[in-house]
Amino acid sequence: MNNFDFKNPTKIIFGKDQIAKLSEEIPTGANVLMLYGGGSIKKNGIYEQVKTALKEFKVEEFGGIPPNPEYDVLMDALQIIKDKNINFLLAVGGGSVIDGTKFLSSAALFEGEEPWDILANHIRTEVGMPFGTVLTLPATGSEMNSGAVVTRASRKQKFGMGGPGLFPQFSILDPSVVSSIPQRQLANGITDAFTHVLEQYLTYPIDAALQDRFAESIMQTLIEVAPKIIADPSDYKSASNFMWSCTMALNGLIQKGVPTDWAVHAIGHELTAMYGIDHARTLAIIAPSHYRKNFDDKKEKLAQLAQRVFGITTGNTEEKANKAIEAMENFFHSLDIKTKLSEYTKDYKGTAETIEKTFSERGWNGLGEKQKVTPALVKEIVEMAY
Ligand code: NZQ
Ligand code: ZN
Repeated sequence: MNNFDFKNPTKIIFGKDQIAKLSEEIPTGANVLMLYGGGSIKKNGIYEQVKTALKEFKVEEFGGIPPNPEYDVLMDALQIIKDKNINFLLAVGGGSVIDGTKFLSSAALFEGEEPWDILANHIRTEVGMPFGTVLTLPATGSEMNSGAVVTRASRKQKFGMGGPGLFPQFSILDPSVVSSIPQRQLANGITDAFTHVLEQYLTYPIDAALQDRFAESIMQTLIEVAPKIIADPSDYKSASNFMWSCTMALNGLIQKGVPTDWAVHAIGHELTAMYGIDHARTLAIIAPSHYRKNFDDKKEKLAQLAQRVFGITTGNTEEKANKAIEAMENFFHSLDIKTKLSEYTKDYKGTAETIEKTFSERGWNGLGEKQKVTPALVKEIVEMAY
């Protein structure tokens, strides 16, 4: 096992009717900016619950943060933070609203001229404006981690940011919110969380027995609840397991002491930036090709995945490893998630070359756990995913 430090300061408040506890978590007298997305919270009752819980507070609102939070929209919210002397942010939404809020937390205290530099120049956020979240969509794990991804559509760019200053102070996780989530987003959430585990697990063995079993149990739980939650999103039991699995998949725990990959996400973000494909679906497009192209480096963990998660017990290491990739594809297909780029866009030709060029220009010469995934290999992976 590798050496590691582990600190996760986010307080989780989990369960039914817990949104009412908001008033206990926000500092008395705070000037709050409540941030949300395109309006789902106004249809499913979450907006009312939050407003009721905050009736003693001075609250400004900013709605309209789109999926893949857009820099230009967030800059309007930053103006409100400055004009209204906001000192506490409250995200009410999924990964996009939470990530947008993280960007604002950082940008509000940023001393440089152009907040885009935080993303473009990889500036770590050591201290941000304090914020909390009410999670409405299990998927990204953003509610309990310190990362964010922001899009600038005019430049077709989607960049990550992060730092210890960007952990939420608290996150309220009420599984009842799952009941209003559309099928497409449920499937996305399961796929995203599942791939988060793969990125931290499908590398090479490092004798981290507990981390491996944490990872495997998250994947097993997601596989078990997936058909139930798709069939009935108002099933509270399944919703609870779905929600907590998504959080645990990316709150830092399972990546401690082990190598991590993240090449699938790096390539996937380009597909969202270029074609607007949902984040989770870009992962399902890239993951199988990535594992096939890097088969020799990953076959031992692939075989372990086959055996322990998919129950494949016959065959040698290579055979099991191949079957794991097939089982993964079948799992995505069972959620009605397509795994080929050509199933999402007709204009896919040239995508591989474009991404190869972009990564070369950024100096991303070696992605993955062994820094072996060169731009030339990325091109091959993307071509294989056509
Ligand atoms: O905008 P509204 O109207 O609220 O509708 C949203 C949105 O259209 C809807 N929705 C959310 N909760 C709902 C609901 N509809 C009905 N009932 C509810 N309870 O769902 C749609 C998608 O929301 P979004 O927040 O975009 O989805 P998700 O949580 O999948 O977030 C995706 C974003 O997170 C980033 C992705 O790149 C993408 O930009 N990621 C963030 C990560 C992180 N911070 O750690 C890691 C991930 O790998 C990922 O990159
Ligand atoms: Zn993801």
